[in-house]
Amino acid sequence: MTQYIGILTAGGDSPGLNAAIRGVGKTAIGRYAMEVIGFRDGFRGLVENRSVRLDTSSLAGILTVGGTILGTSREKPHRMLVGGKAQDMTAAIVDNYRASHLDALVCLGGGGTQKNALRLKQQGLHVITLPKTIDNDVFGTDLTFGFDTALGIATEAIDRLHSTAHSHHRIIVVEIMGHRVGWLALGAGIAGGADVILLPEIPYDVEAVAGAIRKRLRSGRSFSIVAVAEGAISREEAEAIVQAEATLSAAGDKQEVKQAKRLIRSLENGRGGHTLALARQLEDLTGLESRVTILGHLQRGGTPSAADRLLATRLGSACADLIHQGRFGVMVAARGEAAVPVPLEEVAGRRKCIPLDHPWIETARNVGSCLGDGGR
Ligand code: F6P
Repeated sequence: MTQYIGILTAGGDSPGLNAAIRGVGKTAIGRYAMEVIGFRDGFRGLVENRSVRLDTSSLAGILTVGGTILGTSREKPHRMLVGGKAQDMTAAIVDNYRASHLDALVCLGGGGTQKNALRLKQQGLHVITLPKTIDNDVFGTDLTFGFDTALGIATEAIDRLHSTAHSHHRIIVVEIMGHRVGWLALGAGIAGGADVILLPEIPYDVEAVAGAIRKRLRSGRSFSIVAVAEGAISREEAEAIVQAEATLSAAGDKQEVKQAKRLIRSLENGRGGHTLALARQLEDLTGLESRVTILGHLQRGGTPSAADRLLATRLGSACADLIHQGRFGVMVAARGEAAVPVPLEEVAGRRKCIPLDHPWIETARNVGSCLGDGGR
């Protein structure tokens, strides 16, 4: 009997999504004679039943295309804006899954999507996910697709910033995406030879950063490139968060819990402009003129790298194999050359930060990059 599979892309877009859709679709159709239906704009498309049949002709020519042909959104099934109000639309998703006679639903996304997929699994749906995000922070997989492309873009930016920083004897602070993790900043910082690399995992001391830049100055290097992850935090900010978390655990009533949670959220999220502030501080502390480059969404756009196309295609193809075998409720993780099904319960709600003993950290220090903690 023909099997019907639905597919959607959720969360921020990332290079390689179309390669993954194609990998799932071509294997499902060509190898297993399944029917594939794409849902538009993430989970919202499933709520509103906005879909498109994906056949071999609609899957042709998309391997090299950035973004997602299906569209995406950050909407959550259990908290979706309907008529201006957040509502739980899980039941509508379950109804439309059944009405479309789906045998499986493939969700391509990052950490948030893994959580949403687990909720749908708990409603009895046959979900299976693929790990995408430029941040590389999905737990349980060696890599996410999108990361390699963004790494290339951020590295090229650092390369280009070198010549202008050098010519003007300036500090250039370049902000690199990554949400709450530093994989992109660390990877691009090492690959691009940044002099300072600041990560969320290692709260920085601005004096230590300025000291490293002054040391370079004394040895005749009158410019510095500072690669700063968007989620990087100073020691003071990190201490404030620890204190707010202690207040939260000690909170006696609902009101206190609410207040403490609000404070933590504002400390974690309300840091817009911190890269500009850091550049100003470094200018004051070193006497060197400073400039800021925020790479932003440039890192998510455009053609996926060969490595991302390969990863997305092999995980997508393995996903169709697993559906054929009746394996659901899992994320298809990259483990070395293998594609391994990992139960969603092991993945959802966990973030893959850089472990402090990760070899990239040691490498960065060995080649003389300052990580802002006064370490070697
Ligand atoms: O998760 C990918 C990512 O690009 C993060 O690096 C960044 O913090 C966030 O998405 C930006 O989200 P948006 O596109 O919604 O502004």
